[in-house]
Amino acid sequence: MNTALVCILSLLTILSQPFYSHSVRCNSDDKKVLLKIKQAFNNPYHLASWNPDTDCCSWYVVECDRNTNRINNLHLFAANVSGQIPPAVAELPYLESLTFHKITNLTGTIPPALSRLTRLKMLTISWTNISGPIPSFLAELKNLTFLDLSFNNLSGSIPPSLARLRNLSGLRLDRNKLTGSIPESFGDLSPSLQYLYLSHNQLSGTVPRAWGGLNFTSIELQRNRLEGDISFLFGKNKTIQIADFSRNMLLFDLSNVEFPDSLSTLDLNHNRITGSLPEGLAKFDFLFLNVSYNRLCGRIPVGGRLQTLDYTSYFHNKCLCGAPLPDCK
Ligand SMILES: *[C@@H]1O[C@H](CO)[C@@H](O)[C@H](O)[C@H]1NC(C)=O
Ligand SMILES: *[C@@H]1O[C@H](CO)[C@@H](O)[C@H](O)[C@H]1NC(C)=O
Ligand SMILES: *[C@@H]1O[C@H](CO)[C@@H](O)[C@H](O)[C@H]1NC(C)=O
Ligand SMILES: *[C@@H]1O[C@H](CO)[C@@H](O)[C@H](O)[C@H]1NC(C)=O
Ligand SMILES: *[C@@H]1O[C@H](CO)[C@@H](O)[C@H](O)[C@H]1NC(C)=O
Ligand SMILES: *[C@@H]1O[C@H](CO)[C@@H](O)[C@H](O)[C@H]1NC(C)=O
Ligand SMILES: *[C@@H]1O[C@H](CO)[C@@H](O)[C@H](O)[C@H]1NC(C)=O
Ligand SMILES: *[C@@H]1O[C@H](CO)[C@@H](O)[C@H](O)[C@H]1NC(C)=O
Ligand SMILES: *[C@@H]1O[C@H](CO)[C@@H](O)[C@H](O)[C@H]1NC(C)=O
Repeated sequence: MNTALVCILSLLTILSQPFYSHSVRCNSDDKKVLLKIKQAFNNPYHLASWNPDTDCCSWYVVECDRNTNRINNLHLFAANVSGQIPPAVAELPYLESLTFHKITNLTGTIPPALSRLTRLKMLTISWTNISGPIPSFLAELKNLTFLDLSFNNLSGSIPPSLARLRNLSGLRLDRNKLTGSIPESFGDLSPSLQYLYLSHNQLSGTVPRAWGGLNFTSIELQRNRLEGDISFLFGKNKTIQIADFSRNMLLFDLSNVEFPDSLSTLDLNHNRITGSLPEGLAKFDFLFLNVSYNRLCGRIPVGGRLQTLDYTSYFHNKCLCGAPLPDCK
């Protein structure tokens, strides 16, 4: 999705060229900063269009605001550039969206200078080799609606301060090496948060009970070391569509959990879940379900999609039975 978005944005930049070619829009301070960034990356081929003799609003991977003509987007993706995130990036005060995506040779830590980019709405640093902790100063970027630090080499625990981002609708910290528990402050996450991905880390402890009051669309916490109950995330009037909690150490009774009509994916495989499958699951006409490798028992409810699913969606439980598993005794 990121790649597609970036392609579209780049294309729009190119298409809008002819309309402006008669006048130079580029702000000269922004141009100096971009040339500094190019230099910091050792003048890579990928930034060859960043020619000081041309209008910087026409350069590849950047965009200028229509009114202010200031650089508001920088999307560097799949670029053969090496080195660290240049602190000079923070000298583009009008940036609203900053992306470093799929850059294998991007290393080092997230520079503190980024905290000056207070207009940022979207920050993506993903599929890179940046390491070190997730800095707590990111909480100063109060305008953020989307923060994506997935698929990196980040370690340490999740900074409690991130809960102060009250406009966040998406938070992705998945596929790093994060440890510790989900911070207590996350019990009071922004009610606007719809997409939460913390999967493929080494997070331990329990899921905050207060999340029962949030309205997630997607929540993916698979492949961590989480314990305890998550049943409070569900309920009739929720809007949750995708819930993946597979490969944790969750322990709760599934028997009386009510699932919202919006649910389309429920992956609970490899936990320690007890009880039986609730009858309510039979109402879904479309549902990806995997409850394998738990401690469930009793008859698989009849109806909806439940009998059409592969038996591996149910296998390795204590005593689940009935189609598509063998008959109950
Ligand atoms: C990464 O850096 C190495 C060594 O400098 C270089 O050989 C390689 O081509 C770079 N790869 C990418 C995708 O930038
Ligand atoms: C990346 O850039 C380096 C140095 O600029 C070059 O040696 C290498 O061949 C490039 N790698 C790729 C995959 O383009
Ligand atoms: C990180 O670097 C290693 C080797 O230096 C490379 O194999 C790996 O693909 C890189 N990871 C990412 C997400 O770019
Ligand atoms: C959010 O961005 C606006 C401009 O888009 C800016 O005026 C404001 O100061 C920013 N808010 C914060 C808290 O930094
Ligand atoms: C959050 O978003 C609302 C509405 O989109 C906006 O009015 C408000 O200024 C934003 N808050 C911050 C801290 O940027
Ligand atoms: C990833 O981080 C670890 C420290 O947490 C470090 O030892 C390792 O070299 C890093 N890997 C890369 C490819 O940067
Ligand atoms: C959701 O349902 C519960 C119990 O049925 C009710 O107490 C609560 O007010 C409802 N919340 C909303 C936002 O509708
Ligand atoms: C979740 O949001 C939907 C609409 O977006 C609303 O109808 C529902 O009552 C909300 N539920 C809770 C528990 O906040
Ligand atoms: C369910 O999960 C188990 C364990 O990861 C896997 O072996 C099985 O193929 C999955 N089945 C389906 C239908 O996804």
